[in-house]
Amino acid sequence: MDRTRHWDDVYANRRANEVSWFQRRPALSLELIERLGLPADAACVDVGGGASTLVDELAALGWSDLTVLDVSSRALDVARARLAAAQQPAVADGVHWVCADVTTWVPQRSFDLWHDRAVFHFLVDPEDRGRYRDVLAEAVTAGGHAVMATFADDGPTTCSGLTVRRYSAESLVAEMGEGFELTEARRELHRTPAGVEQPFTWVVLRRR
Ligand SMILES: C[S@@+](CC[C@H](N)C(=O)[O-])C[C@H]1O[C@@H](n2cnc3c(N)ncnc32)[C@H](O)[C@@H]1O
Repeated sequence: MDRTRHWDDVYANRRANEVSWFQRRPALSLELIERLGLPADAACVDVGGGASTLVDELAALGWSDLTVLDVSSRALDVARARLAAAQQPAVADGVHWVCADVTTWVPQRSFDLWHDRAVFHFLVDPEDRGRYRDVLAEAVTAGGHAVMATFADDGPTTCSGLTVRRYSAESLVAEMGEGFELTEARRELHRTPAGVEQPFTWVVLRRR
């Protein structure tokens, strides 16, 4: 499967607020991040950030070291243009926009916070999950955190026409390995723009 093509087509053919994962405000991400009590100069990467408004919200809170990574350059263009229009263009220019597949990404620096909402669950190939784990472990500093959300074990079996792998908090923590410890777990019912409820599993992990 050509991931770039798949996701570029999604963002070319649908508005950001029409996709099933759309959130006007990423409330639970913000709540879990706020509870970590990180300083505004902490380094954050939103992996598979797509057109999410998390970057807008964190920038508005004064976060100054933001990276958004996505396999789709179209998704990054949407987020960047929106941020430039909503805040100062310099704010959007200050974000590091990285077009890459997380499973082959070579991070050039480390991060205090890794955020992934609805990306890891697309990795149905064990080798891809292994590569994701390696990148995560390399990118996040000791004592740093990962906030991750996947479809719950009773959630949908597909998203955007792709098969997903579903997780309980326990299975998601186990998947990330010994290098991370669980600090918080949540269950969320996300309501899609079409009104369908999707159960999500959220975990906050701390790098040992
Ligand atoms: C369901 S969307 C979620 C977007 C965003 N995290 C949010 O919560 O609104 C999945 C996103 O992950 C991106 N994506 C999928 N597979 C990826 C991969 N292997 N590496 C990087 N990005 C990926 C897609 O382009 C898309 O933007």
